[in-house]
Amino acid sequence: MHLYFCGMKELDARLKKRLEARKEEHAYRQLTIPSGLIDFCSNDYLGLSANTKLRADLLQHFMAYPIGSTGSRLISGHSLQAQELEQKLAAYHSAEAALLFNSGYTANLGLLATVPQRNDTIIYDQLSHASIREGIQLSKARSFAFRHNDVNHLKEKLNRATGQIFVVIESVYSMDGDFAPLSAIIALLEDYKAVLIVDEAHATGVIGDKGEGLVASLGLEEKVWARIVTFGKAIGSHGAIVLGNKLLADYLVNYARSFIYTTAMPPHSMKAIELAYEMLENRGLLEQLRSNICLFKGAIDPVWKDQFIESDSAIQSLLCPGNEQARALARSLQEQGFDLRAILSPTVPKGKERIRICIHAFNTESQLLDLAKAINKKLGEK
Ligand SMILES: Cc1ncc(COP(=O)(O)O)c(C=O)c1O
Repeated sequence: MHLYFCGMKELDARLKKRLEARKEEHAYRQLTIPSGLIDFCSNDYLGLSANTKLRADLLQHFMAYPIGSTGSRLISGHSLQAQELEQKLAAYHSAEAALLFNSGYTANLGLLATVPQRNDTIIYDQLSHASIREGIQLSKARSFAFRHNDVNHLKEKLNRATGQIFVVIESVYSMDGDFAPLSAIIALLEDYKAVLIVDEAHATGVIGDKGEGLVASLGLEEKVWARIVTFGKAIGSHGAIVLGNKLLADYLVNYARSFIYTTAMPPHSMKAIELAYEMLENRGLLEQLRSNICLFKGAIDPVWKDQFIESDSAIQSLLCPGNEQARALARSLQEQGFDLRAILSPTVPKGKERIRICIHAFNTESQLLDLAKAINKKLGEK
């Protein structure tokens, strides 16, 4: 008993020390409840999470479904609803098959941890999301990062690769908001025994005529071996699918632990996703989002353009090196009514700390212009 208590104290001391280190680096994280400021930080690009029509439609279906899915898809959690949703989503994104996961995080873990094998090689963009990196860490394959969006550097890595090669990229990068040079990467891979995996988390619902993502919008579905589409961002809900061929879906059902050993997505969540996709067919929200992105970018004084990472997506990142400096800038903009967050190192590399501004379809013209004006003024004070 005594030893147990001692162990607990020592462990507490160790945790405290690590938290102190975070404070010293100005990187201590705390949960904050959104305080009703103007939303420029959520990934709810189309505003579907709060969309009145969508919520009313969902309410109509509320009693038709049980609350929980009651088990893993392999036991009691499978349903005709899940199967039909997967078929609908596969068709929407022009894929042979789709397999639902409870989040983009677990989709990446499931895919990357189980498909590449010991003598294979995974090559991934340096700015890949944590869920991609963690999936890679769980796999037994060798892995290399290539410099962000640098096709020549990717080629160097391909020349050193052995076994089956997997190249992993995002179509729109979550922190920089820029696009992958998808066509150039595909052209390069044709000379290698390599397959491409594209995470479309921030392109889903945003890129393409009906939000089908970058791959399908360029007609490159056949050239991409697997895609990850997530529902926690523009789709306004949560969960994800892996898109690929039927063999891949079958393989994941058999091997992906993050698919097998978890309770399946609840029916109401599946219905919310289905209804959100129906809303995507009406392009109004998407067009509004695009016009808002243009309005905001156009209102930033050209002298400050270089402080932004070049991006045509809904993610506009204003670089502000240093954790303390980025936090101070975010605080000042928050005090003016804008909900913006500083993204600090180690989430982004040191020196690349930033304010990540997310533009939404629901941001009004005056909100967008006021934010741009506040940023122009603040940068001018430096
Ligand atoms: C590129 C990318 N992939 C995957 C994920 C994880 O998705 P989810 O939030 O559904 O777990 C995120 C989330 O931020 C992301 O940005």
